[in-house]
Amino acid sequence: MKILQVKLGQGGYRILIGDNLLSDLGKYLQSLQIGRRILVVTNDTVGPIYGNVVLKSIKSAGYEVVYEELPDGEIYKTLDSAKELYTAALSAHLGRECAVVALGGGVIGDLAGFVAATYMRGVPFIQVPTTLLSQVDSSIGGKVAVNHPLGKNMIGSFYQPLLVLADVGTLRSLPVREVRSGLGEVIKHGVIANADFFDFLEIHLDKILDLDPDLLTEVIDTAARIKVEIVEKDEKEHGQRALLNFGHTIGHALETLTDYQVYRHGEAVAAGMAVAATMAENLGLMSDTDRVRLIALLDRAGLPISFACAVDEIIKILPRDKKAAAGHPRFVLPSEVGHAAVYDDIEAGVVKAALEKNHRQS
Ligand SMILES: NC(=O)c1ccc[n+]([C@@H]2O[C@H](COP(=O)([O-])OP(=O)(O)OC[C@H]3O[C@@H](n4cnc5c(N)ncnc54)[C@H](O)[C@@H]3O)[C@@H](O)[C@H]2O)c1
Repeated sequence: MKILQVKLGQGGYRILIGDNLLSDLGKYLQSLQIGRRILVVTNDTVGPIYGNVVLKSIKSAGYEVVYEELPDGEIYKTLDSAKELYTAALSAHLGRECAVVALGGGVIGDLAGFVAATYMRGVPFIQVPTTLLSQVDSSIGGKVAVNHPLGKNMIGSFYQPLLVLADVGTLRSLPVREVRSGLGEVIKHGVIANADFFDFLEIHLDKILDLDPDLLTEVIDTAARIKVEIVEKDEKEHGQRALLNFGHTIGHALETLTDYQVYRHGEAVAAGMAVAATMAENLGLMSDTDRVRLIALLDRAGLPISFACAVDEIIKILPRDKKAAAGHPRFVLPSEVGHAAVYDDIEAGVVKAALEKNHRQS
């Protein structure tokens, strides 16, 4: 098992990564300063697979459990679902001493975290992420949220967990498309911060896709460590954390234009990274060799490196950061594999040319 310590302004927490950890969850909860009553939040895909082992572990460690299984899907990451959870907690007379355990992917983690942040003005929160994306990305960094009809993740907060337990064994039941989506974020971490890690991914990709538990533990530990190091320096997203948005400017636009129905998050980010790498090469920031390496790895991982949305539509909805000069959208561009920087001054023509190069006629 790998243990990652996250140090934050007020305290911190541990991320435990390894195979077959779920059955020890109760034991790990005993090491935390929490009460004896736990609200477990999951969905009707993950619950039937892992609910029993989690419940058995928590109960045999002496905790009383309220178990809530929501329908699966991003469309349930809402205030209505949060209200359902508040009602379940209040009906069971859970007080401020209770803790919330999120068992699932990023949707459940974001929603349960939002409930933990707001129930009784905040109760302890434990993340048990079960997708690759949630193990390397969404369970780290303390962002919790629900969606609003007018925008994704629009109602939320920063709320740190007391513990993250990432059992790589849970990835064996994950649909392969979700594994590939998570790899999009993993590859992103290599490009923005760690060339050795990128090399490692190139060498071991096939075995990673075969879900070799030791390799997965290594990959998740390194990817999570990269995010942790960035988040520790910038807990509330004022500066360096923007690097994590590599691929996200175009990625978010693709997700929005397709109403979140076409791309998994990591897929949209992959296409966004391909466009950003083209921009970086055209600006003379990144070599063609490094751009081709990135594209080749994304392609081998089964991720999109082009897109079919109309270029003009994408440009129209690109977010314009308030701090960006002259209202240009903000881009993270790599200078080589392992290094990237934030740019607020990219000319519209550069964006358009890169989009056109990566656009796929369909
Ligand atoms: N808080 C953050 O910093 C942050 C960062 C990135 C993404 N997110 C959020 O994360 C969400 C996406 O997360 P995701 O990609 O994990 O999607 P998800 O939670 O929807 O999970 C993907 C699918 O896999 C299923 N699943 C989960 N674990 C499984 C398992 N072990 N076996 C079988 N099936 C399993 C889920 O039920 C779902 O159908 C989005 O809502 C996004 O906004 C948050």
